[in-house]
Amino acid sequence: MCMLVLFTVFAIFAFATCGGYSGQLRVSVDCMEKARSNLSIGIDFAYPFRLHQVSFDAPVCEGIREERVFLIGDYSSSAEFFVTIAVFAFLYSLMATIVYIFFQNKYRENSRGPLIDFIVTVVFSFMWLVSSSAWGKALSDVKIATDPDEVQLLISACKVQTNKCGSVLEPRWSGLNTSVVFGFLNFVLWAGNIWFVFKETGWHKGASSLAGGGSEKQSGTFNNQGILDQSAGYNTQGNLSQPTEYSQVGGPTSYSNQM
Ligand SMILES: *[C@@H]1O[C@H](CO)[C@@H](O)[C@H](O)[C@H]1NC(C)=O
Repeated sequence: MCMLVLFTVFAIFAFATCGGYSGQLRVSVDCMEKARSNLSIGIDFAYPFRLHQVSFDAPVCEGIREERVFLIGDYSSSAEFFVTIAVFAFLYSLMATIVYIFFQNKYRENSRGPLIDFIVTVVFSFMWLVSSSAWGKALSDVKIATDPDEVQLLISACKVQTNKCGSVLEPRWSGLNTSVVFGFLNFVLWAGNIWFVFKETGWHKGASSLAGGGSEKQSGTFNNQGILDQSAGYNTQGNLSQPTEYSQVGGPTSYSNQM
């Protein structure tokens, strides 16, 4: 049960920190003709990081004219992919929790449960790895594209030696860094769970082992195992000769057994 909560909470953290992000940077354009200067030009951007749609007005330092400047890059595909995976992982964990609480017995009767759970877990592990990597790469590109020193290069007035441009404020990155960390934590969590879910399918023992289904013994075996105990669990539960292990059926119950 607490494993299920962990899966759910970690998924929430991943999409909330990324999808809820908004940041701001500030640059200054100090024209030789002081009256034209703007020493605090704020530039706001947010998820999903379509930076090529983010614009701001900067003085041209000639007359009262201003120019509209656009940031560069579109990182929405990686960001949206990451958030989508996180949201679906959250929904699956939530569904598994509900099944575990309300439909546990029904789920055990259905032999397709462990199979589906196994496939879904493998797919989500892979997706977490791919989307976290893609998002991590996109984030490093976003950091460069929104670096005030880089943004100054886009302003034509800053190309004139007599004008001075400066960086006033850099965006905060802690939230987005956290989202990448949580992405990889989720990958570790899901990938680590593959073995436990695989055991529920009973494949590693051959078809004959399915006869042992329904035993309640193993729920005691796995009870009170936290996530930290899982590494130990790999050794002790890797014992293939123990006939009661595979009898657990269903994804949600497989989580519960690892508590
Ligand atoms: C400087 O730019 C900001 C937009 O970032 C604008 O709101 C403000 O009015 C500008 N200030 C001057 C003096 O033009």
